Amino acid sequence: MTHDDSMNTNEPMDTGAQSPVSEAQTDIALGKGLDLGTANIAAAVQNDEGGITVNVERNAFLDIGDDVYSKNMLTKLKVPYVVHNGKVIVLGEAAFELANVFGKNTRRPMQDGLISPGEVDALPIMKMIVSKVLGEPAQPGENCYFSVPAESLDIDNNVVYHEGLFSGLISKMGYTARALNEAHAVIFAELAEADFTGIGLSFGGGMANACVAYKSIPCVSFSVARGGDWIDRNVSQVLGVKQSKATYIKERGIDIRDPKNREEEAVAIYYRNLISYVLQNIKSRFEAGQNMPTFNDAIDIACAGGTSMVGGFIEVFRDEFAKIDFPIPVGRIFRAEDALTAVAKGCLVAAAIGE
Ligand SMILES: Nc1ncnc2c1ncn2[C@@H]1O[C@H](COP(=O)(O)OP(=O)(O)OP(=O)(O)O)[C@@H](O)[C@H]1O
Ligand SMILES: [Mg+2]
Repeated sequence: MTHDDSMNTNEPMDTGAQSPVSEAQTDIALGKGLDLGTANIAAAVQNDEGGITVNVERNAFLDIGDDVYSKNMLTKLKVPYVVHNGKVIVLGEAAFELANVFGKNTRRPMQDGLISPGEVDALPIMKMIVSKVLGEPAQPGENCYFSVPAESLDIDNNVVYHEGLFSGLISKMGYTARALNEAHAVIFAELAEADFTGIGLSFGGGMANACVAYKSIPCVSFSVARGGDWIDRNVSQVLGVKQSKATYIKERGIDIRDPKNREEEAVAIYYRNLISYVLQNIKSRFEAGQNMPTFNDAIDIACAGGTSMVGGFIEVFRDEFAKIDFPIPVGRIFRAEDALTAVAKGCLVAAAIGE
């Protein structure tokens, strides 16, 4: 199986959040990959042609008044909804679009890479989104590898609780649930040719994850609570604009090597800081020497995650890399071809090779 097979991302929502996505079915019980991200939930499955299909949905929702008027409006706009605890709920991409139209904020089940402590409806909502993108197991007990972040260096996060919660949720759906570190998944997706040796980085919405692996065995994994949301929050503060405006500036196709105005300059400053912060932390791990293998040959660095999609990301990364005296030889520094789906694909690869 190659990891650059044709893919079909951003499946449009169909009605009924519980209904499985038909393309997610496969006769070959090779397992599935699931990326549970703060911003997006993605499921990767083998399709009938032997390629990979990835279904992506925003990890967001919106609750709308439970009155006839609201329901009629949603029906007229052809927006699918579900009723949960007596509330009319719009899920995923549709929630995001509707929120933009009405100038509202969506509610988010996850925060900083983990299930949100302040969102009571988080788990049932995520269960609906996961059911939608993942579908039912091809056979009972099919393996489902799901992504989890590593323990964070800079905040006290409780990965154990998050992992346990989703392991239970996926098991109840009829799968055998197995947790896989998010950056380790990037190595499975992108570094097959290097015998799964190298550094995988996932720059997501809630955090950045790093993993160093030798022949597929992870030696070091960590996360930092800085990602796309952190950039948006800071840009919003320094410019005095709403966070959603900051997200818009960042995603509208700018190039962080060449900021065109004060707004883009702010985005570029925080990007550089994020990249340098992650690199410094990897460097100190190598220097501390704990659990680090000796690499005889130069190793590659593969970057993935939505935050790595900004224009000029890899160039700025190489620039910051050149500034620090990195302790080991590095070969290629590159971004995954499809940065948004690499983690889900890596989880699928791990399931397929029985990692
Ligand atoms: N074209 C783009 N340019 C810059 N940033 C982008 C672009 N597209 C998406 N993003 C950012 O990517 C982030 C989402 O990335 P991703 O889906 O990888 O995160 P996630 O896996 O859901 O989060 P996490 O891994 O932190 O839990 C958001 O902050 C979003 O603003
Ligand atoms: Mg992620």
